[in-house]
Amino acid sequence: MNAPELEVHLDADDLARSLRADVINGLTAEKKTLPPKWFYDARGSELFERITELPEYYPTRAERQILTDRATEIAAVTRATALLELGSGYSTKTRLLLDALTAAGTLRTFAPMDVSPTALTAAASRITADYPGLAVHNIVGDLTRHLKHLPTGGDRLVAFLGGTIGNLVPAERAAFLADVRAVLEPGEHLLLGTDLVKSPSVVVPAYDDAQGVTAEFNRNVLRVLNASLGADFDLDGFAHVALWDAEREWIEMRLRARWPMRATIPGVGLVVDFAAGEEVRTEVSAKFRREGVERELAEAGFALDRWWTDRDGLFAVSLARAVQED
Ligand code: SAH
Ligand code: TRP
Repeated sequence: MNAPELEVHLDADDLARSLRADVINGLTAEKKTLPPKWFYDARGSELFERITELPEYYPTRAERQILTDRATEIAAVTRATALLELGSGYSTKTRLLLDALTAAGTLRTFAPMDVSPTALTAAASRITADYPGLAVHNIVGDLTRHLKHLPTGGDRLVAFLGGTIGNLVPAERAAFLADVRAVLEPGEHLLLGTDLVKSPSVVVPAYDDAQGVTAEFNRNVLRVLNASLGADFDLDGFAHVALWDAEREWIEMRLRARWPMRATIPGVGLVVDFAAGEEVRTEVSAKFRREGVERELAEAGFALDRWWTDRDGLFAVSLARAVQED
């Protein structure tokens, strides 16, 4: 099979530059952080797929159930000619939408955008093979920077699944939703997956599984720094931590130094010291309530048309419509 074509807005240089900037900012700060997009090299994307199959990781199954039940309705309401998917990964659940939209006869174009060329390439070759006649337009890009490169024309449906919006902190979320609204015309749609607030006894294990796949995924960010910046992080020296922040209603993923450590990062000319017990925040995963989702959408210029949850009320999918701004 021919390799699928990728439209690249994040080339190796650009990636290297933004990785360096993020590492310098994040690891010289008083409270160390690393942004989550650096989890997703080839190995990270594969580890995430394994997370989606873990018994503890309910979001994927719950969202799949909703999409299975509602795809036909989504196709009927949106009559989308183009499906633009952000943070698409392997686009596994997206097939439910592709099936319904091709059955409805409206869909012409599928445009997935992801920072991970590995996931995008794998998804694209399968989708191109399985949906003949569908124009597949693969975009390697950062959803916080490259939305302006999404295809225009027709009736577009932007899908942002997996609860990935929860990986943005509130200010980033507001900017992101405003950016999405800015690329859409009134009447076009956004389909948004959000994980819901629930008991920490259910949420925490989803981010700290018994097999330790999530721990491996979390530590993968250090492997990325070792591989791309020549750093010498000792992965065994960092413990995976997943904490529920009851006030902010998010899960916080951290890497905790088990003992005092020094990491040398030649690619950015940094030497970083860690005290025993010191933590690096690697990700937040916010959980939502209907009122909050509806308000954030409204603030960005979207009306909430449909709100669906799975039968256990774990996860929600919202269908929102871009409204005319005055
Ligand atoms: N949509 C899939 C994958 C979710 S995992 C699902 O629901 O299962 C999050 C995905 O977002 C990964 O594929 C990751 O590579 C991508 N991603 C993370 N940060 C991104 C960013 N800033 N821009 C574009 N894609 C990003
Ligand atoms: N979007 C996913 C989520 O918030 C990403 C994710 C799942 C994740 N498990 C993780 C990110 C563990 C970092 C570490 O559910």
